Amino acid sequence: MATISSHWFLWTATIFLTAMVSQGQLTTDFYDSTCPQAATIVKQKVDEFVDADKGIAAGLMRLHFHDCFVRGCDGSVLLNSTDTTLAEKEALINNGSLRGFEHIDDIKMKLESACPGVVSCADILAMVARDATVKLGGLSWEVFLGRIDGRSSVADEVNTSLPFRTFNFSQLVATFAKVGLDTKDMIVLSGG
Ligand code: HEM
Ligand SMILES: *[C@@H]1O[C@H](CO)[C@@H](O)[C@H](O)[C@H]1NC(C)=O
Ligand SMILES: *[C@@H]1O[C@H](CO)[C@@H](O)[C@H](O)[C@H]1NC(C)=O
Ligand SMILES: *[C@@H]1O[C@H](CO)[C@@H](O)[C@H](O)[C@H]1NC(C)=O
Ligand SMILES: *[C@@H]1O[C@H](CO)[C@@H](O)[C@H](O)[C@H]1NC(C)=O
Repeated sequence: MATISSHWFLWTATIFLTAMVSQGQLTTDFYDSTCPQAATIVKQKVDEFVDADKGIAAGLMRLHFHDCFVRGCDGSVLLNSTDTTLAEKEALINNGSLRGFEHIDDIKMKLESACPGVVSCADILAMVARDATVKLGGLSWEVFLGRIDGRSSVADEVNTSLPFRTFNFSQLVATFAKVGLDTKDMIVLSGG
C-alpha cells in the first residue's frame, strides 16, 4: 500500500512538473505549424529596414537587451505609459535613446495580417536582434521561441535592472549576474 501510494505520488508529481516545465520551455520550431512564415516575414522586414538605414540595426538589437533585463524578455519595453504608470520606454535611460519602435510595430502588423494573434512581440524582438546582427555580417544564432508578452511596464524598474553609464566594472558584472549572465557574456554582448 505504501509502495502504491508513493508510486502514485511520483507519477502525479512527474506529470505536474513536466506540464510546468513544458509550458515554460522555448523551442526553435514554436511557430512552425501556427505561423510558418513568421521567421521569413521578420527577416525580410529587417533586411529592408537595414538596407534603408544601416544604423538602425544597432538600435533594434539594443531593444532586445533593454527588454530582457527588465522583467525578462517579455516585450514590456514596447508598452506605452498609461495615465497612472510611466512605462519602461520613458525611463531616463531609455527615453529619446531607444529607437526602432515603429519598425517593430510594422513587423507586428505584417505578422498580424499573416497569422492573427499568434506571434508574440517578445519573440519578434528576439528574432529581430538576430536578423539585424546577421544583416551586418555578424554571426547567427538559433532563436528559441514561445515567449509570452507581459502586460505591465514600469519605468522605475529600469533603474534597478539596467546598468547605468556611470557603472564601474564590478557594478556591471553584478548587473549582468542578476540575469544569469557571466563576465564573459557581458564582454561579448557589449562588443556586439
Ligand atoms: C555593459 C553595460 C552597458 C552600458 C552601461 C550601456 C550604456 C549605453 C549608453 C549610455 C548608450 C548611449 C545612449 C544614449 O546616448 O542615448 C548605449 C548605446 C547603445 N548600446 Fe549600450 N550599454 C551597455 C551594454 C550594451 C549591450 C549588452 C548591448 C547589446 C547587446 C548594447 C547596445 C547598445 C547599442 C546598439 C547602442 C546604440 C543604440 C543606437 O544607436 O540606437 N549596450 N549604451
Ligand atoms: C504607443 O504609442 C504610439 C504613439 O501613439 C503608437 O504608435 C504605438 O502603437 C503605441 N504602442 C503600443 C504598444 O500601444
Ligand atoms: C532613474 O534614475 C535617474 C538618475 O538617478 C533619475 O533621474 C530618474 O528619475 C530615475 N527614474 C526613472 C524612471 O528614470
Ligand atoms: C520622454 O520624451 C518625450 C519626447 O521628448 C517627452 O515628451 C516626455 O515628457 C519624456 N518623458 C519623460 C518621463 O521625461
Ligand atoms: C564600484 O562602485 C561601487 C559603488 O559605488 C563601489 O562600492 C566599489 O568599490 C567600486 N569598485 C571599484 C573596483 O571601483
